[in-house]
Amino acid sequence: MLRPIQGMFAQADFPDLLVGIGNADDAAVWQLNSEQALVVTTDFFTPVVDDPYDYGAIAAANALSDVYAMGGQPFLALNIAALPSDLPAEISAEILRGGAEKVREAGAALAGGHTIQDKEPKFGLMVLGFVHPQRLFTKSGARPGDVLVLSKPLGFGVITTALKRDLVDQADLTEGVDWMKRLNKAASQAAATVGVRGGTDVTGYSLLGHAWEMAQASGVRLRFFFEQIPFIQGAKRYAQDWIFPGGSLDNRAYYGPHVNFEQRIDETSQMLLFDAQTSGGLLLAVPQAKLSELLAKAEILGQPLWVIGDVEAGEAKIEVG
Ligand code: CO
Ligand code: CO
Repeated sequence: MLRPIQGMFAQADFPDLLVGIGNADDAAVWQLNSEQALVVTTDFFTPVVDDPYDYGAIAAANALSDVYAMGGQPFLALNIAALPSDLPAEISAEILRGGAEKVREAGAALAGGHTIQDKEPKFGLMVLGFVHPQRLFTKSGARPGDVLVLSKPLGFGVITTALKRDLVDQADLTEGVDWMKRLNKAASQAAATVGVRGGTDVTGYSLLGHAWEMAQASGVRLRFFFEQIPFIQGAKRYAQDWIFPGGSLDNRAYYGPHVNFEQRIDETSQMLLFDAQTSGGLLLAVPQAKLSELLAKAEILGQPLWVIGDVEAGEAKIEVG
């Protein structure tokens, strides 16, 4: 879809554009000077939960995440909203309040936005951030010997699908919503301080889909240890009942050929790694020598991190064992 456009914006014509339409990364990056680059991104989607405040907060946390996934710090955001004309004003206000409180928590300013009328609600943000041009996290920054670290558990796709089908347990939903609302701020800041260079966030293309993008961009093999991958409670139960969103099946069809699973990992477990996430965690490639410092920094910030795999030299490939 993007191919005809990509050719119109060749890197050579825009020397300050460090990350543009030709690089499949989380956000665009424009170098301002030797110390500063702008990180620019936008994201919006239809409701994933019933509560309007939570929906707004999740959509905002998800949009802000693409700045964090580049190692940046958000400083300005604009709302993007499409709302039905018959939606009660209090509901619309709650969506916007949920988003605004996340922008505030990120330490950024909400400076305006644009709203149109639409039958199905859509909400998200355009976000600007700053990053040091030499301290970017990119999908091409993973190196053999790095350790793979994840900052949120998986299972948000099955939880929100269970909710849509009226099969969700309230406690499971609450846990999932709390994680989806959580900013990737602390994880990103901890990683930036210790000098991580490889990173992305786990969203619609699933853990393995986004991992494959990293493997390809970095030219490395990524190996995951299934038993070390965290899941929210209930995720495995809903997966047993095959309550997956359509996107998860698409992910398996598309990325499956690039993944080798050890035989003991059954189909349900495999599918959980292809589960389409909303506002998922950061997937970071951390130099082994910096891992203990990263874990210590994250602990001070109250940010859980899971070591779930490593990076090896070799043809781009994903192994799950
Ligand atoms: Co992203
Ligand atoms: Co995104």
